[in-house]
Amino acid sequence: MSQEKHMESRIKYLFFPKSVAVIGASRSPGKIGHEILRNIVEYGFKGRVYPVNPRADKILELKCYKSILEVPDEVDLAVISIPAKFVPAVLEECGKKGVKAAAIISSGFKEVGNVELEERIVEIARKYGIRFIGPNIFGVYSAPSKLNATFGPTEVLAGKIAFITQSGALGIALMGWTIFAGIGLSAVVSLGNKADVDEADLLKYFVNDEHTKVVLIYMEGLNNGRRFMEAAMHCSLKKPIIVIKAGRSERGARAVASHTGSLAGSDVFYDVAFKQCGVLRALNVEEAFDWARAFTELPEPKGDNVVIITNGGGIGVMATDACSDYGLNLMELPRDLIEEFKKCMPPFGSPKNPVDLTGQAAYDEYSRALKVAFSDDRIHSIILLFCQTAVVDPPKLSEVISDIVREYKHCKPIVACYIGGEECQKAMRILEQNGIPAYPTPERAVSSLAAIYRWAKWKKKMLKKLKGK
Ligand code: COA
Repeated sequence: MSQEKHMESRIKYLFFPKSVAVIGASRSPGKIGHEILRNIVEYGFKGRVYPVNPRADKILELKCYKSILEVPDEVDLAVISIPAKFVPAVLEECGKKGVKAAAIISSGFKEVGNVELEERIVEIARKYGIRFIGPNIFGVYSAPSKLNATFGPTEVLAGKIAFITQSGALGIALMGWTIFAGIGLSAVVSLGNKADVDEADLLKYFVNDEHTKVVLIYMEGLNNGRRFMEAAMHCSLKKPIIVIKAGRSERGARAVASHTGSLAGSDVFYDVAFKQCGVLRALNVEEAFDWARAFTELPEPKGDNVVIITNGGGIGVMATDACSDYGLNLMELPRDLIEEFKKCMPPFGSPKNPVDLTGQAAYDEYSRALKVAFSDDRIHSIILLFCQTAVVDPPKLSEVISDIVREYKHCKPIVACYIGGEECQKAMRILEQNGIPAYPTPERAVSSLAAIYRWAKWKKKMLKKLKGK
């Protein structure tokens, strides 16, 4: 194996270590090193855990070691949470111990002008072949190995989204928010100063990670745009990448410089580069996670024809406008399909696209219309809209819809939007649990479906171009 491949192969120990040492595992609850150890234990890490602290014998019922060199086992991953000035010596010990990867939590490096200290740890890591994330990070989470080596929330939900973040506090906050929103993650990586591992390294890893379907990145700036683009192009051909690139405005770019020390760079450059390599740029967190949820659940569409099924004319018009804004093709229904949809609604309904089942529509109307949409091969994607009415119990409607989507084996993309009160929130959770992305506004549902189309179209074009070479 070449040295480069060898170093690349070590990234996996960030996500699948057999053993983890927490260096700086504090005895005091509330201190970062203590909370990381507690998260690792409480989240149920499958491997072996070794606290390291010269002043303690036992922490959280685990035997504690004075130095990593005393641990009577191989250590794959070291999480380092001690003041910055002590990090080089500890990393040197990690190297001697044969540690393969590290997460350096400590702040106080390049971000505050300590460039030399950061260069020293890079040198030591290179000497021993250690790959590390950080410094200045909140840690790493990996769902399949049940590793929560962060000082973020404990109850992270497992899923298929790999989330990479340059910002620490925002990353932790978003981890918490995903729990609240019921969004599952395959991995979370805090990158901080990116002294060693960066986005490109992680894209090369996640492209082959069977637990990840989509990669979501919060980015402030890139150190090496070309490397990122190569890795992104390669990854996008297999898995979608969604990026929130902050520092779009001039003032925002200045804020980036003082936050992580990154150069935000020209926003136009990022825009063009992202488009070239198939990266989907989301304007904000909500949009990014909306799209990511759709990507984790939905198949790729087999064609452009989109049909809207609704019980409300107004919401149907809003969705139609959004389709036009986002470039989705609302299908002109052929006569025979109009006739089929007519059978699903009262005489005053509208069988054109949007298919308006009217406000009196209940389970049977939705069920029949959905079956028409799923069974006809000329329809490629479905937008299902529902305005809460007294004739329908929203959670029950979700059960009915879920049964049909299951019956048709999730064979085409379907996004839903429910507008209404608390019952609609519950009902949308039911859809989500059954693999149907649901949103509280038609625009968000349409935007998510449109993201899937954009990625699928980019991929098709790029594959054709590559074949032609
Ligand atoms: N090996 C192992 N343990 C060591 C050690 C060493 N060489 N040197 C010190 N320790 C122990 C300490 O004894 C202490 O344990 P104790 O509380 O039981 O006595 C523990 O490690 C932590 O050391 P301490 O000096 O108390 O540091 P701290 O916990 O106050 O701060 C950091 C350490 C890393 C949290 C802090 O320096 C820091 O960088 N904070 C910012 C982190 C951050 O925000 N990162 C970015 C997030 S987005």
